[in-house]
Amino acid sequence: MAYSLEEPQTTAELSGRFEQENKARLELIYNVSKKVGSVPRMTQLLEQIIRMTQRTLNATASSILLFRDNDQDLFFEVASGPVGKALKQVKISAQYGIAGQVARTGKPLIVNDVSRSENFHQTIDKTTGFTTKSLICAPLVVHRQILGVIEVLNKLDGSDFNEQDLEAVVSVAAAAAMAIENTRLHQTVLDAYKSTISTLAAAIDAKDPYTRGHSQRVMEYTLLGGTSLSFSAEEMETLEYASILHDIGKIAIDAQTLNKSDALTPAEWDMIREHPITGANILKEIPFLEKASELVMYHHERYDGEGYPKGLKGEDIPIGARLIAVADAFDTMTTDRSYRAAFNVDDSTRELNRCAGTQFCPTAVEAFISNLRVGTRK
Ligand SMILES: [Fe+2]
Repeated sequence: MAYSLEEPQTTAELSGRFEQENKARLELIYNVSKKVGSVPRMTQLLEQIIRMTQRTLNATASSILLFRDNDQDLFFEVASGPVGKALKQVKISAQYGIAGQVARTGKPLIVNDVSRSENFHQTIDKTTGFTTKSLICAPLVVHRQILGVIEVLNKLDGSDFNEQDLEAVVSVAAAAAMAIENTRLHQTVLDAYKSTISTLAAAIDAKDPYTRGHSQRVMEYTLLGGTSLSFSAEEMETLEYASILHDIGKIAIDAQTLNKSDALTPAEWDMIREHPITGANILKEIPFLEKASELVMYHHERYDGEGYPKGLKGEDIPIGARLIAVADAFDTMTTDRSYRAAFNVDDSTRELNRCAGTQFCPTAVEAFISNLRVGTRK
């Protein structure tokens, strides 16, 4: 929606502009509501919300401040406008200022001349060099709990904020509050879920005294590789679940076979070679873990196509599975086994490099080694 900064001259022009602005406000509320369900990352979502709000209200800046842990301080969670970057993660006391007042009382405010407001606190303006002239501030409330506030500052054309602007910001605040609450609930469920996953992984490792902590370490090593390759947050999450649960399929193999020191029979080998498929089948039925199941399925494939269970080759093997393969081998080499002592880090990375292009993907080896904190496990 484009705005003219020129003052409208006639009644028709005035009414046209009024209609245009009302339509824009409605569009803002509609778009924010739509985004709330579609953008998974809270910060990303809140950034989009303040940018859309700022643009629609023809304002100079906008920000969302949230309480953290207690109700004493408000943190700038996201901020747009000329000094937005400088404000990120800055905190202010909720005991003072207009934002503090709105956060304490839960009542939205329009202040069209802050110099006349005794509540206006100049600290942020003094720190950033920004001059606040007018503002709208609305509380983010969910289940009668105030999570923080949204602020919109200074109309670009110097005009006043009006009641319709305030109504739009209050509606946006309601949607934003709901999004924040949903994300926090989601995180709580996710944390509980991750703790169950760790317990499950530890149960698999416990089947073999030599693999205690193996799953956890494979996860840490795999994530080093993912970080090197600049995986997105979502990809890292999939990598985290897949790597810690890569051997979940071993749950179906008896401990005697897993720990056997003599050569395995062909039937026992078949059972071992089945564990990536068993693991993937377990995980694909669980919400959150469908993507991880694919990586578990292919964590024993080799770059040269000589691995199992499918004999996939090169880039046909998902990159996450190639990273897990490297991490798995590195941890196996750097821990004691019943039949040999652990190799040191240098020898192990040399071996990974030697097998890059045959057993391992060269990109995955390079990604892991380049980010390995050498010396931690020497
Ligand atoms: Fe495995």
